[in-house]
Amino acid sequence: MDNKAFRTIAYCMAAAFLLIGVVCYTAFAKKAPENPIRIMFKNTGGNVLFDHKEHFHDDGYGIECADCHHDLEEEGDTPAACSECHDAEGEDAPKRVEVLHSQCKDCHDEGGSGPVNCAECHVM
Ligand code: HEC
Ligand code: HEC
Ligand code: HEC
Ligand code: HEC
Repeated sequence: MDNKAFRTIAYCMAAAFLLIGVVCYTAFAKKAPENPIRIMFKNTGGNVLFDHKEHFHDDGYGIECADCHHDLEEEGDTPAACSECHDAEGEDAPKRVEVLHSQCKDCHDEGGSGPVNCAECHVM
């Protein structure tokens, strides 16, 4: 094989790997929010940073998925966003803001730990 043919093959392989890389990257990037690590709730009361992973991870607060995602029927299912059912108007289910406030605050209150005052959650 002469040098030129070798170079052509090398370029083709480099191009092929680049393509594979791009395809894989976009495929995985789209899969993204399987289990969000942190969630920023942007709202008029001041943004709330929610450490999702810390809440469910065994090394964190170890809370079961279904304790918050009450739509889950079986372990391993992917839960829907609260707003799928709890919209801003509260037409088919209680309003999104109300259920988030009550779920977050009730647990903190009853468990005796975690923020219950406005400014401790709405820090941003
Ligand atoms: C302390 C409560 C809590 C726990 C525990 C919890 N989550 Fe969540 N999770 C939430 C909230 C709140 C959201 C934001 C939903 C929204 O914005 O509508 C969320 C969002 C999600 C989303 C993104 C949903 C979407 O389509 O936007 C997924 C997926 C998810 N959680 C999976 C899990 C899994 C799996 C577990 C258990 C390993 C878990 N969660 C544990 C409260 C919790
Ligand atoms: C598939 C639809 C659906 C999804 C998704 C869903 N909910 Fe609900 N939720 C309901 C319905 C319907 C009710 C009212 C009937 C009931 O109590 O079961 C309700 C009730 C509640 C209540 C009790 C409210 C009250 O006033 O008694 C809380 C708290 C709550 N949801 C929080 C959440 C949170 C937080 C999420 C997201 C992590 C979520 N829900 C996701 C449908 C849903
Ligand atoms: C089922 C119980 C439970 C629910 C529901 C819950 N939390 Fe918590 N949260 C905890 C516990 C336990 C801690 C740890 C408190 C400590 O000991 O520091 C905590 C701590 C926090 C903290 C302070 C430390 C940190 O991790 O950032 C924030 C902020 C917080 N929670 C926000 C939220 C928000 C927002 C929601 C609702 C979307 C929520 N939590 C729902 C149990 C809960
Ligand atoms: C445990 C954390 C937590 C505490 C404590 C808390 N909030 Fe919130 N607040 C949230 C979350 C989460 C949302 C939902 C944001 C969303 O819908 O994405 C929210 C939403 C809001 C909104 C936006 C309402 C809307 O219709 O968009 C206002 C205003 C608000 N809170 C005010 C308050 C006030 C006032 C207090 C104290 C009395 C308070 N919050 C205490 C977590 C908290």
